Amino acid sequence: MGLLLITSTIVLLLSILSAVNSCTPTDRAALQSLRSSLHEPYLGIFNTWTGTNCCSNWYGVSCDPLTNKVTDLNLRGESEDPIFEKAGRTGYMTGTIHPAVCQLYGLTNLIVADWKGITGQIPACVSSLTSLRVLDLTGNMLSGEIPANIGNLQRLVVLNLADNGISGQIPKSLVQLSSLKHLDLRNNVISGEIPTDFGKLSMLSRALLSRNELTGSIPSSIGYIYRLADLDLGLNKISGYIPQQLGKMRVLSTLNLDSNHLTGEIPSSLLSNTGLGILNLSRNGLEGHIPDVFGSKSYFMALDLSYNRLRGVIPASLVSAAYIGHLDLSHNHLCGAIPSGSPFNHLAESSFASNDCLCGNPLKTC
Ligand SMILES: *[C@@H]1O[C@H](CO)[C@@H](O)[C@H](O)[C@H]1NC(C)=O
Repeated sequence: MGLLLITSTIVLLLSILSAVNSCTPTDRAALQSLRSSLHEPYLGIFNTWTGTNCCSNWYGVSCDPLTNKVTDLNLRGESEDPIFEKAGRTGYMTGTIHPAVCQLYGLTNLIVADWKGITGQIPACVSSLTSLRVLDLTGNMLSGEIPANIGNLQRLVVLNLADNGISGQIPKSLVQLSSLKHLDLRNNVISGEIPTDFGKLSMLSRALLSRNELTGSIPSSIGYIYRLADLDLGLNKISGYIPQQLGKMRVLSTLNLDSNHLTGEIPSSLLSNTGLGILNLSRNGLEGHIPDVFGSKSYFMALDLSYNRLRGVIPASLVSAAYIGHLDLSHNHLCGAIPSGSPFNHLAESSFASNDCLCGNPLKTC
């Protein structure tokens, strides 16, 4: 009798405890809707989504231990997780991202990335998930536009939508993302212009927008993003001049503006910016002379000015550079003797090919 009482008391206590640590019915229902619109045939990650407690052992789901709200949905199709090792392959998933995901009000990380086959649109309601810090939907086949109210996500630090089929324009509200540090929209079909007030994104350190259909000119306001280290606008249809302001950026170390329709001259501030280690201006319509502003603090891992309309001589100051790893001045209208000096000694003919009248080592003697 006494033993039975103790046993049933323990059972009761355990069930209360597990209810306390269980996910809320609304979160569980939202996850089940999400699951119902996705199909993951090879790894069986959703086989772990059973039982009532979504906060315990549901693959990719984490909860806040105090509120039991789901805070993280972390589903990556490329991962070191044993579940992938066991299957001996990377992930593949089809289906769509169900708008029920927006009922997970406590979400701080929403990562559904690199599944290759997920189609449909980004649910517009994600802009109501105001606790979000990371929104990473890279590497799927998502289409449609970036939600117009994305700017509501005031805590968003990472927005990664790269490698999808996202179209439309960069929403005006995007510049309101005052916490954003990492923006990656590469390899989509985004068109229209970069908002002129893009420079409002004062926390931004990486802005990767290459391989899209962007037009218009580079907003000079970008030059005022103090923390920007990496700006990649390559392979778009951007025209106009390169803003002088880009050359004055203190921490900019990589600038890729290659394969666009840029015209005008290369701002001298850009080439004298000693922080810049990678500069790719290849395949544009840049004119004029290469500014003679290099110095002993110039240190370029890569300097690619190929396929432009640059004329005149190769500036003599370039030999005073501390280091030039990869130099490409080919396919321009340069003329005259190639300067000789240590940064040039290892360069091959291809660095200087197809100019008007360059001569000297490694080309034919003058
Ligand atoms: C610069 O961009 C061009 C064209 O987009 C590309 O082919 C080239 O490899 C890039 N150069 C470097 C050094 O990465």
